[in-house]
Order: sequence, then structure tokens, then C-alpha cells
Amino acid sequence: MDKKTLELFGTEVKNGLLPPQKSLSSKWFYDEIGDKLFIDIMNMPEYYLTNCEFEILSKQTPEVISAFGISKEPFDLYELGAGDGTKTMELLKSLQGYDFTYRPIDISIHAIDSLTQRVTRDLPNIKVECAQGEYFEVLGSLNQSKPKIILFMGSNIGNMLDERANAFLKALSMTMNAGDKLLLGVDLKKASAIVLPAYNDKQGITAKFNLNLLHRINCELDGNFDLIAFEHAPLYDEERGWAMSFLKSKSTQQVHIKALDTLVDFDEGETIFMEVSRKYDDMSIANITQDTGLQIVEKFYDSKNYFCDIVFEKQ
Ligand code: AVJ
Repeated sequence: MDKKTLELFGTEVKNGLLPPQKSLSSKWFYDEIGDKLFIDIMNMPEYYLTNCEFEILSKQTPEVISAFGISKEPFDLYELGAGDGTKTMELLKSLQGYDFTYRPIDISIHAIDSLTQRVTRDLPNIKVECAQGEYFEVLGSLNQSKPKIILFMGSNIGNMLDERANAFLKALSMTMNAGDKLLLGVDLKKASAIVLPAYNDKQGITAKFNLNLLHRINCELDGNFDLIAFEHAPLYDEERGWAMSFLKSKSTQQVHIKALDTLVDFDEGETIFMEVSRKYDDMSIANITQDTGLQIVEKFYDSKNYFCDIVFEKQ
């Protein structure tokens, strides 16, 4: 981590662990270990999101591309938080005849590096230019001359509650010109029996994924979290469509984070709120897109109706 990011990490960790309901931001999950664990998560049988979105992008590719309304003009294909690119490869394969540059943006340098390698190896005729950084820093610095298609897949938007998601989409829309498109992947509300196992897998990968953030605090901020003294405790509020992850302290304990000069006390059973993964319906989709100037072109569902990829056009 560079100095600025490390400082921000420290400040957010400190502010997160002070209030009565402790919390840490899921955006810090993705260090080198976290990136790997997330790839393992995407490959778990319980994590239906990836398979569903893969199905949409591989079986309905021509329809999705036609919703993009691409002409002969050159365009830029941006992807926010590209991850390992497995799903994107499906689109890229079918876009090979078009004149475009693929521009993945990710905060994780590891993710960006391996994705670029993968695309250059498997699809050598596609132009790739990646950018490491915060989405808006990168998008804000753009040369606006070419039409844009922006991919924001995987239900990554679900890590924000609706008010923040709406603010995010407003800001994103500001970087778009009339006619530009956004492909937004959203996981849909459904029974707890399907959602919860995706965040509470048998192998314990999701538990490791959450605990890795404590490990990261230990490494980068000189903390002494005892990882076996916490357990992964996910919940799904079926009514609201909120999957939430907590880490629960197994005992009364004190944690020292040296670089922050901070002692944190935990009661037995006390939780740290780690992540929300919001599940959507038409109402909540309308909520997060209100006043953004983004209009739905078409919605694409997988065969089980678990997941939805929505193509929007900027007005
Ligand atoms: C990458 C935010 C879409 O919320 O489903 C997976 C992250 N967390 N398992 C999600 C995650 C636990 C994932 N997103």
C-alpha cells in the first residue's frame, strides 16, 4: 500500500472500531490474499452469482451487445472492479470485430496485472489499457472524446446501501455523455436458503475472506488480532434483501493496534459489521437509479432469475 492509502486505511479502521457498533469497510478486503480468496469464492458451488452472470453474458451475448447500440465508431469499454475477468472474457470474445479499447479499472494492482496478462494472452487482438486507482479518480481524468460503455458487474454495487449506491451512480453518470451505456450487474432478492449459503460456505472460504481483513490490520497497522478468537456470522434479511457479514468475538478480549495507538475492547459475542451485499428488486433498482439520468435499455436475466444485468443509457 502506498503511504496515502495506508493513512486512509488507518483512519477508517480507527473510526470503524470506536463506535458501539464496530464496523470495517469491505473495500479493504482486497489485498493479495483477499483477491485470491475472492476468486475461490467465485468458484464455490454456493456462490451462484458468478455462474448466473456468466450464463447471461455467454448465452445472451448478441442481445447484450445489441443493447449497447454500438456503431462503427471507435469506443472505450471501461470496467470498474474487473476482478479476474472470467465473465468479461465472454463479452470481449464477441466484441473482437469492433474498434475499441478495453480499459479495466481496479484499486488492486494484483487484480489489474493478472487481468491484463490474461486478456493479452487469450485475446491478443484486443487493445487493453488498464488503470489502477479509485474509480472516480480514473474516470474523472478521462479524455471524453470517444463514446463509452461502462461495465460494473458482479453486483459490486450491492456493497453500498441504497443512498450511497444512488450517490455513486449519480457521480458515475456525471462522467458519461448522452448515449453512453452502463452495464450494471445486480443480484436479485430471493429466499434465504439460496442467499445465505453463498455467504456461509461449508469450506469456510468466506470466513477466511472476512478474517483476512483482521490479518491485514495486524500486518499493515501492527495489530494483534487473534484470528481464532473471532467467528464469521452472516445474516440475511429476506424482507429487505440485505445479506450482512459480521465477525463475532468469541470471548472478552482487548486488541492493540500499535500503529494507531489504539486499544479496542470486545465483549464476548460482540460483533464487527464487515459487509453488506444488497439484493435487489425493481423498486430498489428504481431507488438507486433515481435522478441519475440513466434510463433502462434492457434487462437480462439468467434462466433461474437469480441475477440481472441491466443496460442503461445516459440521457
Ligand atoms: C464482490 C461485492 C459482489 O457481496 O457478493 C463475496 C463480495 N463477499 N462473498 C458480494 C463477497 C462475500 C461480493 N461482491
